[in-house]
Parts: sequence; structure tokens; C-alpha cells
Amino acid sequence: MATDSGAPFAQKLEGLISDQPAGSSLLQPFYGDSEIFEHDMARIHMRRWLCAGHASQIPKPGDWFRYDLIGESLILMRGSEGEVRALVNVCRHRGSVVCSAASGHSNRLVCPYHGWVYDSAGKLRQARNMGDVDLSDRDLATVSCRVIEGLIFVNFAPDPVGLDHAESVLKQSLGRFGWANAKVAHRAEYTVSANWKLVTENYQECYHCRPAHPEFSRFHSTERPEEKTVDLRQGAAELAAAQGIKIEEWDMWPAGKDDDQEGVACANDAMYEGSVTGSQQGDPLAPLMGDFRDYCDGFFTYVEVGPSSFFLAYPDHGVIYRFLPRGAQRTDMEILWLVDAKAEEGVDYRVEDLIWLWDVTSIADKRIIENNQKGVNSRFYVPGPYGLMEDMTRRFAAWYLEQVGA
Ligand code: FES
Ligand SMILES: [Fe+2]
Repeated sequence: MATDSGAPFAQKLEGLISDQPAGSSLLQPFYGDSEIFEHDMARIHMRRWLCAGHASQIPKPGDWFRYDLIGESLILMRGSEGEVRALVNVCRHRGSVVCSAASGHSNRLVCPYHGWVYDSAGKLRQARNMGDVDLSDRDLATVSCRVIEGLIFVNFAPDPVGLDHAESVLKQSLGRFGWANAKVAHRAEYTVSANWKLVTENYQECYHCRPAHPEFSRFHSTERPEEKTVDLRQGAAELAAAQGIKIEEWDMWPAGKDDDQEGVACANDAMYEGSVTGSQQGDPLAPLMGDFRDYCDGFFTYVEVGPSSFFLAYPDHGVIYRFLPRGAQRTDMEILWLVDAKAEEGVDYRVEDLIWLWDVTSIADKRIIENNQKGVNSRFYVPGPYGLMEDMTRRFAAWYLEQVGA
């Protein structure tokens, strides 16, 4: 890790922050300098709540999957009592990685180096030929882990910011969509050759939707605020209310001054007439989820928690978006598609239809974000102004500067 507080770096950062024009995209080094990237990871990703996946990925005791981020590795494991823990994937003997596979099932984790054995709670159970060495404090370390409406959140910090605001928003939104009783129908990963902030900025505005996403814009009202978003959003709320479902909008992201809580935002947008979900023709894709009893000319709800976890909910399916920084100019975008746990593939839904919209949209996003990075890398790039449809992006940039400058 680069020197977080070394004097030359601190001076460089301070200089950049004071040169940064207000209300504009960030100065070039913020989008590619490797020292700044390391600083971002220490100041943001190691301190905020991150969605690691969905509980249905580990349904039975002993099921686990690995979650790797910027040199750290966790084992998300379901213990014998059904609880989910985030075990640190570092052996307490001499530090080997314990699990090398991406996922697995076992009631015992065996370190491949000298064979120390841990149980599904990370407790050390066997360590042969260690004589009278005290092994009472040699269990696998854990980091904070919370499961909310089926979403597994982790936080690497010893004393994490609160998640209570996020929890109440997730319960009143994704809870109604039945995400706790969902299953992952498909997973896809898109590697984006761009800094993580260009990816997050892109997902906080729909200014780009008209030129980049004709498939999305055909049915979703998000890209037309100047015409009738207010009415359409109101319409979305009414459509939900007609089914007895009230999903309130919240905007507590970025956390800003109340920085002892993770940021969270939730909004409902309408979909145009004839469209009940995010599909190619607007027609249903899968059985209804949660409290929904009818398909109707529809709406969708989107929620974001922290710096890199985004959720989209339709009445019949859900989409989890996670951005995993891999380097100063590389980010993996991982998507999980959810359907009701009882839905059967090939009978109740077809994967190719289910993923069509957000696959085509993600491929387009990868292209435009990579183009953004290429232009930002030019010697001729200068920060440009955020517009009316980029208010969330503007706030994200301001929050980011506050976080790294603190
Ligand atoms: S490092 Fe794991 S058993 Fe030795
Ligand atoms: Fe997009």
C-alpha cells in the first residue's frame, strides 16, 4: 500500500484538491494515478459497506464463496446454525490463503500449506505437531457482515459506519420485492478498463441513457426528466399503491455530514404504457415476487448503498450491480440477476430473456465508460461541468473529495 500519509503524497493530494474546480468532473490524476487509487481503497473501500453477494449463493450450512477485493480475500460462509460470516481468507499459522477455489461446500476448511483445520465458524479445530504452543487465539479473523433482505454486506473496517439507515430503506423497498426469498438466476462479469469512479459516476446519471441505451430508454422514463418525469414518478408510486405496496423514496446518499451511517438512496421510476418489467418488449419475464399480485403498466425501484452497490427491482426480477476496483484503470462490474426462489428455469423463465436488457445495457456502459477513460487520459482533458441530470454524480464527486481529503 502506498504511503497513506507520506508528506509528498499528502502535498500532492492537497494541491489537487485545491485545484479541483467545483461542480466539474475530477482532475485527471483522480482517474488514473496509482497512488491516488491506493489511497481511495484505504479511505473508501476499506471503510464502507460493500455488497458481497446474495444469501441464496450459500443456501446450506458449509456453503461458501470467496469475495476478493484489492489484495484482500474473504470467505463468505454459512455456519452450522445458518448464520453467514465473513471469514478472512488468511491462515492463522503462517498466513497462507486457505481457500483458493471460487466457492465450495465443506464443514471444515483445511489450509493447503500445513493442514490446519478450521470449522465453518472459522474456529481452529486441528493443528498437528505444534507441541505446547498456545493456539487458543488462532481462529480465522472475521470482518463485519450483515444480511439484509438476502443481500450480504461486508465491511473491512474494525469499527464500521452504521448500516441502520440502509437497513430500513432496504426493508421498505427490496423487502416488498421479496429479495430475501429470491435466488440467483444468472451471474455475469464485465471487465471495464476504467477507474472505479468513472464507473460509479456513470451509474449515477441517466444523461447518457438517450444516446447510449435505446433499449432501456424505450420503456423507462428515467432519461426524460425535462418532459414528464415528475408525473411519471408520481404514476409509479400510484401503481405501487394500487397493489397495496408503498415504497417511499429516500435520499441519504452520499452520507455527507451524517457520516456515521452508510449512504443510501431509493427512488421509483415509471415505465411507459405497455411495459410491466425490464424486458425486450416490456412483457413479463418471470413469476411475480414478494408482495406483488399483478403485473401492470409498471415501474421499477432502484436503490444504492455505499460507493459501489446498486440494486434494480422489477415486480418479477431483480438486478444486483457491484463494482469491484482491480487497479487504477480497471474495474470489474459484476451483475447478479434474481428471480423468485421457487421459479424454475426453462419453465417459469428463460435466462436469455431475463438478462437481455441489462446485458445489452452493461455492454454499452462498458464501451462508454472505457471511451470516457481514454479521453480523460489525454493531455488535452480538462474537467467539464456536470449538468442538470448529473446532480447525483456532482454530489458523488464532492463526497469523494471530502473522503479522500479528510
Ligand atoms: S500457513 Fe496454514 S497451516 Fe501453515
Ligand atoms: Fe448506462
